[in-house]
Amino acid sequence: MQKRILVTGSTDGIGLETARMLVSRGHHVLLHGRNPSKLEEIASTLSGLPGGGHVESYVADLSRMAEVEALAKAISDNHVRLDVIINNAGVYNAPEAVTTDGLDVRFAVNTIAPYLLTRRLLPLLEPSGRIINLSSAAQAPVDPKALRGDVPLSASAAYAQQSKLAITMWSCDLARSLGDQGPAIIAVNPGSLLGSKMVKQAFGIAGGDIRIGAEILCRAALEDEFAAASGKYFDNDAGRFGSPHPDALDPGKCRKISEHIDAMLA
Ligand SMILES: NC(=O)c1ccc[n+]([C@@H]2O[C@H](COP(=O)([O-])OP(=O)(O)OC[C@H]3O[C@@H](n4cnc5c(N)ncnc54)[C@H](OP(=O)(O)O)[C@@H]3O)[C@@H](O)[C@H]2O)c1
Repeated sequence: MQKRILVTGSTDGIGLETARMLVSRGHHVLLHGRNPSKLEEIASTLSGLPGGGHVESYVADLSRMAEVEALAKAISDNHVRLDVIINNAGVYNAPEAVTTDGLDVRFAVNTIAPYLLTRRLLPLLEPSGRIINLSSAAQAPVDPKALRGDVPLSASAAYAQQSKLAITMWSCDLARSLGDQGPAIIAVNPGSLLGSKMVKQAFGIAGGDIRIGAEILCRAALEDEFAAASGKYFDNDAGRFGSPHPDALDPGKCRKISEHIDAMLA
């Protein structure tokens, strides 16, 4: 059955490959990017693929919360139902570390924007729906002051890691609070050091095959094995569900992360 699937950050790397696979398999994919001309070119390429899928395009810079709100509104204006959201867009190195909202760009794009987008689009998802959140093997304890943008940190691995533990933690918290009433919310490490633009820039290496990451996102979005996985963490380095950082297994700590984000967005 054709599914309606939003893939954020579908203009490059794992997101682009995931969108390509989904369209080829006949699904209706809502593409998203921050660069209008890059997005337009990709939409044109993907819409010509065999397989019977459809595409539509949405532009938004996810480092700006006003644009996240506008993206959610545009999608809600066009659709009464979505089957899957894949919160894939992410950033590691960036020319500007601090956003116009005064946040660190990694926390803004990797943690807070997907939280806001998910919250706004939740009414479009039925309990059979899924929200797939891109985590990482790299996870380090979250400093709430850094999350709020009060502590300037370098673009170090540790900082990027904090944003990935934070999205894993709010995923666990939202899954717990929605229970059976909401879609499945699943955090996925797509595999480490897959050869995307991000990995090449951050580590200066070619990296592995990004299709490894795209395949697991397609499975998480579509396959029955993920239907009852809400609140779980899939570690694609191990090829199975696994344990995230211990902080993500602590319901109280996960709740606090959601509360910090809610307070910032209020
Ligand atoms: N590659 C890995 O080994 C690996 C490992 C663990 C987790 N991940 C996660 O996988 C996800 C995809 O990463 P990738 O490796 O495929 O990286 P990538 O090739 O750099 O792709 C990142 C995507 O996010 C978009 N993006 C970045 N900043 C944005 C912003 N401010 N607003 C809107 N879109 C923005 C990019 O848009 P542009 O095309 O305009 O740049 C691009 O489409 C990320 O969440 C990453 O943290 C990757």
